[in-house]
Amino acid sequence: MKNIESKILSVKDAKYFAKKRVPKGIFQMFEAGSGSNVTAETNVQAFEQVRFRPRNAVFHKSHDISTTILGHKVSMPAIVSSVGFLGVGHVDGETGVARAAGEAETIQFVSGVTSQPIEQIMEAATGPVYYQLYYVGGRDASAPIIERVKKAGVDGLVLTVDTPTIARPKDTLYPYRAEAPLGVNLKEAFKFIPQVWNKPGWLWDYIKTGLKEPQVAMGLREDGTPMGLFEGIAKIYEETPAWEDLPWIRKHWEGPIVLKGILTVEDAKRAVSEGVDAIVISNHGGNVLDGSVSTLPVLPEIVAAVGDDIEVLIDSGVRRGTDVLKAVALGAKGVLLGRSYLYPLLAAGEPGVKHILNLFHQQIEEGLAFLGVKSIHELDPSFVDLPDSWER
Ligand SMILES: Cc1cc2nc3c(=O)[nH]c(=O)nc-3n(C[C@H](O)[C@H](O)[C@H](O)COP(=O)(O)O)c2cc1C
Repeated sequence: MKNIESKILSVKDAKYFAKKRVPKGIFQMFEAGSGSNVTAETNVQAFEQVRFRPRNAVFHKSHDISTTILGHKVSMPAIVSSVGFLGVGHVDGETGVARAAGEAETIQFVSGVTSQPIEQIMEAATGPVYYQLYYVGGRDASAPIIERVKKAGVDGLVLTVDTPTIARPKDTLYPYRAEAPLGVNLKEAFKFIPQVWNKPGWLWDYIKTGLKEPQVAMGLREDGTPMGLFEGIAKIYEETPAWEDLPWIRKHWEGPIVLKGILTVEDAKRAVSEGVDAIVISNHGGNVLDGSVSTLPVLPEIVAAVGDDIEVLIDSGVRRGTDVLKAVALGAKGVLLGRSYLYPLLAAGEPGVKHILNLFHQQIEEGLAFLGVKSIHELDPSFVDLPDSWER
């Protein structure tokens, strides 16, 4: 029988197999999007609306798609973004992603709400790892977390700055909506049976991990035990990172800092003046403020304003290698992958993530060949056409 990953030729395929493997409520939690889902959808459409102007009658035997992001040499301008609770979707979780990112010679951003502790992730990692800090339980509760990730050897901190409150999930019409369980008890288990009986792969994983409520490995209670999933999610929103916290964070952390969730020139300029090392233009994959601008249309103005002063990365809506080339042509140093690796993880675990990163590598190389350039560093805005409606 063929492995699932060998059947995956696109992120769409991976989404199809992810939906087949995990219970409906859990799939909907990972697919997410908020409110009318307009931002999640237009993120993807924005990449589709940009068209290439290739230079033809050009042939190169090989193409260089390697680059440097945050001082790390990476095999391609695509890195793995922080997505929470990966272990709920597949038992391979963050350590599986760490091994895949290492093999692909790229960077992993690890969520502040991981299923596995940072020490375990660092043991599996062979490439750079950045830890995304959520204040699980307030700012003061985070000082020991910073100490802990420092000791574990992470390369940098990511502050996700677009989540001041919990977002309303996508409006899914009642008959199609599946509840995720609200706790781990007999009543919830009973309610959940219709969703899991035909998901043997996922269920077997869950049985192997002891049928317990997933834990927020880095969110500790006062007695030192990890918080449960539901408790941890609630704790994130007690306080979230803001500009005025940067001096406090710097007291505890001397390494690189990335701000993730920038959408305006004003905030990008402020990030420069605060001395952070990189920004990620992101709307959290359309998972936060419903109706936010898509990310690709604001990339050119942000690059024009701060591109010489700071590394500009982008995410939200990247689904194929040509999307990466469009972002790089418009001045991004690289992109972050979210659902593009999440779905392969849910579908096929670590081999699925390895497979998709390989596919992105191939697609970027092929795209470069079609564009008629030898190196990714030769790309500039003259290689793309933007829709007129993007003019500001
Ligand atoms: C289910 C889900 C969970 C996420 N959890 C986190 C998180 O814990 N921390 C964070 O910084 N971003 C989180 N993100 C946002 C991703 O890091 C990334 O910005 C987003 O997925 C990019 O959009 P895309 O999925 O359309 O590519 C999450 C995204 C999804 C879909």
